[in-house]
Amino acid sequence: MVPEEVRKRVEELRQEIHYHNYRYYVLNAPVISDAEYDALMRELRELEERYPELVTPDSPTQRVGAPPAEEFARVRHPAPILSLDNAFGPDEARAWLERISKLLPPGTRLDFVVEPKIDGLSVVLHYRDGVFVQGATRGDGEVGEDITANLRTLRQLPLRIPVHPDGPTPPPYLVVRGEAFMTVRDFEAFNRRQAERGEKTFANPRNAAAGSLRQLDPNVTAQRPLSLLCYQVVAYEGEPAPPTTQWEVLQYLRDLGFPVTEHAAHFDNLEDAVAYCEEWAQKRDTLPYEADGMVIKVNDLRVAADLGIVGRAPRGAIAYKFPAREVTTKLLEIRVNVGRTGVLTPYAVLEPVQIGGVTVSKATLHNFDYIAEKDIRVGDRVIVKRAGDVIPQIVGPVVDARTGAEQPYRPPDRCPACGEPVVHPPDEVAVYCVNAACPAQLVRRVAYFASRGAMDIETLGEKTAKLLVDHHLVEDVGDLYYLKKEDLLQLEGFAEKKAENLLAGIEASKERPFHRVLTGLGIRYVGGIVAEILARHFGSVDALAAATVEDLQAVEGIGPRIAEAVVDWFHRPRHQQIIDKLRRAGVHLSTVRAQFIAPEAAPLQGLTFVITGTLSRPREEIAEIIERYGGRVTSSVSRKTDYLIVGENPGGTKYRRAQELGVPMIDEARLWEMIGDEVFHHRGAENAEFSQK
Ligand code: IVH
Repeated sequence: MVPEEVRKRVEELRQEIHYHNYRYYVLNAPVISDAEYDALMRELRELEERYPELVTPDSPTQRVGAPPAEEFARVRHPAPILSLDNAFGPDEARAWLERISKLLPPGTRLDFVVEPKIDGLSVVLHYRDGVFVQGATRGDGEVGEDITANLRTLRQLPLRIPVHPDGPTPPPYLVVRGEAFMTVRDFEAFNRRQAERGEKTFANPRNAAAGSLRQLDPNVTAQRPLSLLCYQVVAYEGEPAPPTTQWEVLQYLRDLGFPVTEHAAHFDNLEDAVAYCEEWAQKRDTLPYEADGMVIKVNDLRVAADLGIVGRAPRGAIAYKFPAREVTTKLLEIRVNVGRTGVLTPYAVLEPVQIGGVTVSKATLHNFDYIAEKDIRVGDRVIVKRAGDVIPQIVGPVVDARTGAEQPYRPPDRCPACGEPVVHPPDEVAVYCVNAACPAQLVRRVAYFASRGAMDIETLGEKTAKLLVDHHLVEDVGDLYYLKKEDLLQLEGFAEKKAENLLAGIEASKERPFHRVLTGLGIRYVGGIVAEILARHFGSVDALAAATVEDLQAVEGIGPRIAEAVVDWFHRPRHQQIIDKLRRAGVHLSTVRAQFIAPEAAPLQGLTFVITGTLSRPREEIAEIIERYGGRVTSSVSRKTDYLIVGENPGGTKYRRAQELGVPMIDEARLWEMIGDEVFHHRGAENAEFSQK
């Protein structure tokens, strides 16, 4: 039997988490900190683990973890999922208006809604009593594929409506259509990550989104940065009646908690609608996603329905297409880049050419297979495509323009940076330089170590990394911590101030938690998320280095590839040396974990804390410390709270609630006293303390 108060608490937690998800992912306006959010999720997970009978598919914990599917089931759509006819330019849009006007009673005045036409994947989302029960791809418009488990992983997708207690109640049955996609930024980061790991890269955000959503394993989809925007009610049953104009539909969907574009606009005549489309054609690059046009929709949905359908396209809407962004130019040279993991990536040097107002002189060629497949030759006229902020790509050669002077390309058998022979693993597309001393790789590794997701040393970018490597000041990332000002002053462009800034940045990076250090080491397949899992599970670099492939694979989220890569990395003596250098420098090589302290010795054992206001360090860190010493941090004050820690500018609600319930309030200094650990007053001392563990 589940105690009633547990049932209630679980429900309360879900409601809160759904709401905070919505604030964070849909509105981009979170109202609690990540640490507080994590605390809510943790509490819910714990309760669900203890009472599995309480788990429901709409629980926020159920976004990930579904088992892989054998194949996708077929789903019949409740109404046809239509596509659109195109209009290229103002005249074709006017012709469309003329065509449809003839079908309407004379004198009918039309108004229009214009929305970006996102280049993604249509998805159809079914809700019963506000619960997301099924999601499908468009398929042939009549029948799609059931990708429910994959769609559940999209944080912007409401698992349950209303998303917050004051939200409108949804009808018993609601089917919504939207577009799933990758933003250009997410796409670029994702592709870079794939390339670094020697895995498949995608030609554009659309392919990446489609590939991600059609994964049989939802856990893979969960790792992909997918976004969603909704724009249509496909089916609806119940009271009150659904909105009757497109403009109201957008607002209605927004109110229900769906993500909806902020770039839609309403016009009472076509000319203004067209002008708006043209405006966006000019500034399409400022959209966060790729759009291949705008959609002009007749606002009155009854009129639109009356207009009917031609083929698969409704007459009541038209895609106003942006001009293509492909041009041709001459391929002058193929050069090769060496990445952090030694992957060799070819790129094209082009005769400079304008595409969409930007001069392009380089373009990616993805990999050597791509060059061979497309038979791209040096000297070819090639079609170059630029999409959003995406790196320009070579679509292929213009074979008809060949003169015979074009040279077929032979991939290098030696690394262009160090001259060592390259390796082409049989099961991979990528070609590698495996020379551990290759300077090009080292530059990338140092820059990666310093990058935002890792040690976050702002003053150390690729250029500085190259200087350090070229001058033999750095042979691995461990050497960064032993740089001297005198050494730096001999570098080009380095004066006092710049040298000091670099050293200060490196010094400050000693504060980064262990998982960030682990990320920075650049072990294959160990990106930020995996590093966090490993750090949490093993707790220290020594435990991790001692782990076997089996130990690693026993950890949830760690597969055989990662396990082998980790073991392999730590087995190399030169990597041991890096760890030693980092250790001596005082970089965090362990997490703060309660398990390290015997429970009976943990001074905060069994105590529950809530934090309000600003403390001397981020809440996340304070929470880690409290947990390390046996305590717990929750996000809201209840009868179970033992102490409210009050920082500067405390929030009113928690404070009042604590007063009402008589929960003792303490300041930060008192917390340190309770822990009995003076060391926490000094950030510097803390490093040494943690890293010895
Ligand atoms: S309306 C009857 N609105 O473009 C409704 N479509 O060829 C027809 N798309 O398959 C679609 N953004 O995947 C509509 N704001 C938007 C859209 C949009 C993207 C896609 C959709 C459709 C294709 C039209």
